[in-house]
Amino acid sequence: MRRQVLLFVSVLSLSSVAGQVSYSVPEEMAKGSLVGNIAQDLGLDLKRLKSGNARLHVGNSAEYIELDKDRGVLLVRERVDREALCRQTTPCALHFQLILDKPIEFYRITVEITDINDNAPAFKTKSMIFEISESAVKGAKFSLERAFDSDVGLNGLKSYTLNPTDNFHLKLYDHADGGKEVEMILEKPLDREKQEQISLLLTAVDGGEPQLSGTVQIHVTVLDVNDNAPVFTQSVYKATLVENSPKGTLLTTVSATDLDHGSNALVTYSIASIIDGITDLFEVDGTSGDVRLIGNIDYETSKHYQLDIKAKDHGGHTDSCKIVIDIIDVNDNSPVIDLMSTTQTIREDSAAQTVVAIMSVHDPDSDNNGVVNCFLRDNVPFIIKPTSDMFYSLVTDSDLDRERASEYNISITCCDEGVPSLSSSVTLTLHISDVNDNAPVFERSSYEAYIVENNTPGLSIFTVKATDADWNQNARVSYILEDSSVNGVPVSSYVSVSADSGVIHAVRSFDYEHIKDFHLCVKAQDGGSPPLSSNVTVNIMIQDQNDNAPQVLYPVQTSSSVVAEMVPRSADVGYLVTKVVAVDVDSGQNAWLSYKLQKATDRALFEVGLQNGEIRTIRQVTDKDAVKQRLTVVVEDNGQPSRSATVNVNVAVADSFPEVLSEFTDFTHDKEYNDNLTFYLVLALAVVSFLFITCLVVIISVKIYRWRQSRILYHSSLPVIPYYPPRYSDTLGTGTLQHVYNYEVCRTTDSRKSDCKFGRAGSQNVLIMEPSCTGTMQRIQNEKNILDEPDFDSEVSVYKNC
Ligand SMILES: *[C@@H]1O[C@H](CO)[C@@H](O)[C@H](O)[C@H]1NC(C)=O
Ligand SMILES: *[C@@H]1O[C@H](CO)[C@@H](O)[C@H](O)[C@H]1NC(C)=O
Repeated sequence: MRRQVLLFVSVLSLSSVAGQVSYSVPEEMAKGSLVGNIAQDLGLDLKRLKSGNARLHVGNSAEYIELDKDRGVLLVRERVDREALCRQTTPCALHFQLILDKPIEFYRITVEITDINDNAPAFKTKSMIFEISESAVKGAKFSLERAFDSDVGLNGLKSYTLNPTDNFHLKLYDHADGGKEVEMILEKPLDREKQEQISLLLTAVDGGEPQLSGTVQIHVTVLDVNDNAPVFTQSVYKATLVENSPKGTLLTTVSATDLDHGSNALVTYSIASIIDGITDLFEVDGTSGDVRLIGNIDYETSKHYQLDIKAKDHGGHTDSCKIVIDIIDVNDNSPVIDLMSTTQTIREDSAAQTVVAIMSVHDPDSDNNGVVNCFLRDNVPFIIKPTSDMFYSLVTDSDLDRERASEYNISITCCDEGVPSLSSSVTLTLHISDVNDNAPVFERSSYEAYIVENNTPGLSIFTVKATDADWNQNARVSYILEDSSVNGVPVSSYVSVSADSGVIHAVRSFDYEHIKDFHLCVKAQDGGSPPLSSNVTVNIMIQDQNDNAPQVLYPVQTSSSVVAEMVPRSADVGYLVTKVVAVDVDSGQNAWLSYKLQKATDRALFEVGLQNGEIRTIRQVTDKDAVKQRLTVVVEDNGQPSRSATVNVNVAVADSFPEVLSEFTDFTHDKEYNDNLTFYLVLALAVVSFLFITCLVVIISVKIYRWRQSRILYHSSLPVIPYYPPRYSDTLGTGTLQHVYNYEVCRTTDSRKSDCKFGRAGSQNVLIMEPSCTGTMQRIQNEKNILDEPDFDSEVSVYKNC
């Protein structure tokens, strides 16, 4: 340190009481440094100083200066710090007096302390913190804390500098207190997004030599302003969605970024689309940007969706993006079968390819999911024929037969080609209507029926039955006796056939001995239009009854003459006397005859062959044997019960004829008896013949009368007269007839018993009126009904050809 001693000697009044001397010394001089040569300056010698007991009077002030009486100089007693002593006051001086005694003198001494640059500018704080919005405009001022330099004058604070100066510059201006006010001016706008923290260094320098400086850090935090809009990472998002996806399915996540900070960077997402209903289908999570399904997606309704999403920050800045959603089809629709037109019933004789139904089939799914194939479930005689796109017709494929299947449940199934495939089906009930295509069929190709002779007329012999596979009227079978003749007589005089039941009745009593069998032809005809028919042959076998007694052919029985067999007395044992010959018109067992000896004059002499009727001797004839022998042989058939005949055989045991004659005269006593018998027989025959002729005449006249009547009916266009008995009423619906009809037949038979029989038939409902069939002697008891009721129901036909 350069020592500078400034000596001012004031001699304004060098009076004894007042002299003044001034010195100037810089501060911070070391202890013992010389301030000034006071003795010399005051013109005092060193002795006076000693004798005068020179001393310094500082009053209350600290003693910075001391007096060296020996050398007569002032020295620094204590280091002086100008800043401590005077702070900023200038000039800074120490005032004290030098006092001498004997005589008392005093001198005023002023020591001015001059400043040296020993203090650097300093800031009170270590750092300054600013928070400046990035929206601060250019020219915005920010006052900075001033630095302080306790030095004064040139050594005091001189200037500030700021570093770096990208955004700010400093502006200084004088303050009222003489210092410098310092402000930081915003020169270039801040951008938080570029630089959020700015560090500046403010340096204060003084004007001393060497220059001293002090610094402070300025921390500027740039405060965010919502000056950035959110930006989507993609302008278009693509998403695919399978239809029928469950609610909550995540489609995609949109994301927008905002360069701002904090709440200014908070983005919320929302759907901006204004298309109706789209917000019922999709939602976007406001914060996460997840786009989810909230509704039901149906590919068939819409195949694409476009969703506008808006991102918005809290400052109202927005951005938008699109989401293009493609819907993927799922096979969720079954084919729809629409029967447009159906037939309920078709005829069984319908030609192949007859259209039964027309239907349309469609499946709203796409691609294979919508490709439909139709087929029929069961094996039915129908096929599905595609007519045009989506239209199909159901046609018959082969011939139908109601008798095989009268009804079809046609199940139409349509499947699409999706995986898994969906199908649907409809069932169509089709009735096959009957056509008379089946003739009645008899159960057998021919029948054999048996009837025992001597039956009561009207007895039912047999029942033929034919079935018709058709339906209802087409299957209603009537039985008709076909005309033929048996032994030249129309068969209708033998049997009748009940039209609806097929019961064959005997019209007359049969005689096996007259007719053993015959056949008839029964036609079964259905009620279709035209009717179909078939016929069957019925062989009727008449069975024998033991109704004829054996007849003895030999020996001839006469009443007048006596015939006798001759047996010579010389005849041996086993001599064939004669042979009884008998016949039985019955047959079989009924005609199997056996011969027995019933009575004999001498039983020990003759025997009769059981089988052959031969009468033989069984012992030697002796002279004692009577000439006249009488044998009664009974001929018996084997019927049940058996019938028999007896024959008397006269045997003459003689060697000559005159001998016989003499013996046989007594045979004549039987003659009267025989004559009586002959008379009665002739009488009976006459009576019977008379009755027969009378009856015959009556019948023929009635028959002629009837024939005339029927000719009249025939010509009055009433050839066919179905006759129903009065009690046949409204039972058509049930198909049954009340067979309570009695008729009587009076006929002649050609049997030996010429009589008139009245028979009662249990069943008869077809009357055969045939003008030419006069041989059939049928008389209708209720013939009046025929004429009175001409309009019969045509249910049963009557056939006129014989
Ligand atoms: C057709 O269906 C009906 C009703 O289900 C049934 O009564 C009838 O028996 C069926 N017919 C055939 C031929 O299967
Ligand atoms: C009976 O049917 C046969 C064929 O089955 C036929 O040849 C014959 O002419 C028919 N007879 C009558 C009388 O209809």
